[in-house]
Amino acid sequence: MLKRISMLVVAGLAAATLAGCGSESGGGSEAGGGGGDAIVMGFSQVGAESGWRTANTKSVQDSAKEAGITLKFSDAQQKQENQIKAIRSYIQQKVDVIAFSPVVESGWDTVLKEAQGANIPVILTDRAVDSADTSLYKTFLGSDFVEEGKKAGQWLVEEYKDASDTVNIVELQGTTGSAPANDRKSGFAEVIGADPKFKIIASQTGDFTRAKGKEVMEAFLKAHPDIDVLYAHNDDMGLGAIEAIEGAGKVPGKDIKIITVDAVKDGMQALADGKINYIVECSPLLGPQLMDLAKKVVAGESVPARVVTEETTFTQEQAKEALPSRQY
Ligand code: AHR
Repeated sequence: MLKRISMLVVAGLAAATLAGCGSESGGGSEAGGGGGDAIVMGFSQVGAESGWRTANTKSVQDSAKEAGITLKFSDAQQKQENQIKAIRSYIQQKVDVIAFSPVVESGWDTVLKEAQGANIPVILTDRAVDSADTSLYKTFLGSDFVEEGKKAGQWLVEEYKDASDTVNIVELQGTTGSAPANDRKSGFAEVIGADPKFKIIASQTGDFTRAKGKEVMEAFLKAHPDIDVLYAHNDDMGLGAIEAIEGAGKVPGKDIKIITVDAVKDGMQALADGKINYIVECSPLLGPQLMDLAKKVVAGESVPARVVTEETTFTQEQAKEALPSRQY
């Protein structure tokens, strides 16, 4: 009896934990409100670390509603163990499809095999995993992060094409081990590596957050009085760094040139104001394509192994034009 009661307590606690970081949405009455034939998707989000992520979550939730898909949503707070727990709970709940944006690239094979064993298809969205066995997921929808890093590097090479002095660069990396941090770093390094005048004098993670971006930039400024360029893997870290640069009595965009990735509204505003010099776009509006892919996968139709998001770049002038109609 006692054993049974404690099992009930454990089960209750587990349910409460999941309820604390998750929610359900989508599936309007036409679609059966989650009952009937509506597709049920379990979605494990990385967290709420940036403006990009907020826009991405909204896109996924709105699109699920529009597509009549019942969404079970959970926020992993940038922790892989939380994502693994959420995926296991979706397997237990026998959802029709699991979608997730992996916080880091490695360490997914075991849980992906569990989903495969339960015949639940998995869609990777936004970020990749490094599993050698690509049959563990049906498709990967998201940006080409290496290309984004290359675009950032190409702007820099063009900007300094007539300079002969060394160009001292500091880099604010995204979350350690995440696909965008790995790929934006390598794409950028590949392009600037062709010219020895470009020197990355410091490179550290700012976890994709504004607060950490500010903190790390403050340390960079103290250690290196001669920074020419900041390359931040996202707008939020760049915006935090701007506060640090201004706090140190320097002018962002002039004394220190700044390149970021994302093109969320706050970043675009700073670009239009001359505080950032160039932004490489990374689109968070993945929801509609994700829902289309989910419907096909659940219906047993074939889907492309890789769906790459279309993206552009913005100069200060282009940001002024684009800002009034920017959705996020
Ligand atoms: O995976 C996409 C990246 O994650 C975005 O560029 C960044 O802002 C977010 O946190």
